[in-house]
Amino acid sequence: MRKAYVRSFGCQLNVSDGEKIKGLLKKMGYSFTEDENEADLIILNTCAVRESAEDRVFGIVGSMKKLKERKPSLIIGIAGCMTAQEHIAEKIKKSYPQVDLVLGTSAINALPELLLDCLKGAGFAADISEYDDFSAAVEQVRDSSFKASVPIMFGCNNFCTYCIVPYVRGRERSRNAQDIISEVKELVRSGYKEIMLLGQNVNSYGKDISGGMSFPQLLRELDKIEGDFVIRFMSSHPKDASHELIDTIFECDKVANHLHLPVQSGSSDVLRRMNRNYTAGKYLDIVDYIYSKDPDFSLTTDLIVGFPDESDEDFEATLDIIKRVKYDNIYSFIYSKRSGTKAAEMPDPISDEVKGQRMRRLLEVQREISTEHYKRFIGRTLRVLVDDRAKKKPGFLTGKSNEFIIVEFEGDASLIGKFVDVEITGAMNWAVTGRLKTP
Ligand code: SAM
Ligand code: SF4
Ligand code: F3S
Repeated sequence: MRKAYVRSFGCQLNVSDGEKIKGLLKKMGYSFTEDENEADLIILNTCAVRESAEDRVFGIVGSMKKLKERKPSLIIGIAGCMTAQEHIAEKIKKSYPQVDLVLGTSAINALPELLLDCLKGAGFAADISEYDDFSAAVEQVRDSSFKASVPIMFGCNNFCTYCIVPYVRGRERSRNAQDIISEVKELVRSGYKEIMLLGQNVNSYGKDISGGMSFPQLLRELDKIEGDFVIRFMSSHPKDASHELIDTIFECDKVANHLHLPVQSGSSDVLRRMNRNYTAGKYLDIVDYIYSKDPDFSLTTDLIVGFPDESDEDFEATLDIIKRVKYDNIYSFIYSKRSGTKAAEMPDPISDEVKGQRMRRLLEVQREISTEHYKRFIGRTLRVLVDDRAKKKPGFLTGKSNEFIIVEFEGDASLIGKFVDVEITGAMNWAVTGRLKTP
């Protein structure tokens, strides 16, 4: 049996594509390995969101030259967002002769055909055309047996000025609501405990389908499915985060008490130049509405540090907003110039050193906020979906609470994949600790 090594980089939507790639390969008779040395086929499912992500892939592909020399029958394929940029596809073809096939983000279904061409010795094969057959049923080989990602839409229409995603993933296409509902029903029936709905802006779900369901409507339909499971979703663009969405989160028992609401910057001027279509004030209005319903509600966010010409005042505004909102966690990135985007043409006099200092300061402030804010859970009992054994702490387990907080506690590995109740006894800056409650 031929063995395939499939590695996905980037966001959860890309990871989900990687699971589809595995599904197609399984159908072709491949089994899977975590060791590239024993693979007959290697697929790197790439991300283009930051330069560092691309450099990493080029480094890995470079090092695979040796593998190919040792095993000339090895097939190496590059899939995912990097391939959708013409200059990158050209670079791969010109400078990395060890690569046999290139597969665009919308051409996953073309993989079997391309692979057969390669196996027949037809030479380099590529398909980066923009098919729209994303909804074609591909049975995924899922990485987890209890947590499932379900893409509800593909692409993005927002063109934030720093972001490559709309260029590499195309325009928004929503999946049919009934297909999503059937998929979730089937996942729940087969024992999945967490359903993560995915899209670059789930709040605009259905807007491209006439008479289609809105995202809050979809959430309410999924909430009706019988079973013991939690519904999560990401990402939610603040410009489209409505009161109806927030009310729906509170009304639906199975929808988690957590919202990932990427703010990107606390400066309205930077937000305008980012083309985010909201101001810091408008963002805080949404947060205030959420906290008026539950002051302990859990929020997380994405932030970019060092956007072109970000001033000290702009950066201070970012620190102010994280102090004001008190996120449970932030995902922060130093701005990375992406060729083809509008921001790539903006003058950027801020040095890398200053950007690095700002990043360190941001993380320092957030660490203090998290530790302090996590203390609100001490004495409370949280419902936790157990993920894994805790790293470097024998006898301990780690999981995520309904609020998306990492919880560490002592327990038996047989609990992995199950919901448990944990009484919270301590707070760190990245997680809370607790005691397993016996049922
Ligand atoms: N669609 C999601 C949204 O708007 O919230 C974000 C998806 S993007 C894949 C994830 C995060 O990467 C963004 O929220 C942003 O913080 C970050 N990001 C995107 N482009 C970036 C760039 N050029 N440099 C640094 N970070 C970037
Ligand atoms: Fe990128 Fe903005 Fe689209 Fe998110 S909403 S994927 S940040 S363009
Ligand atoms: Fe990266 Fe593509 Fe996702 S650029 S973040 S893998 S949509």
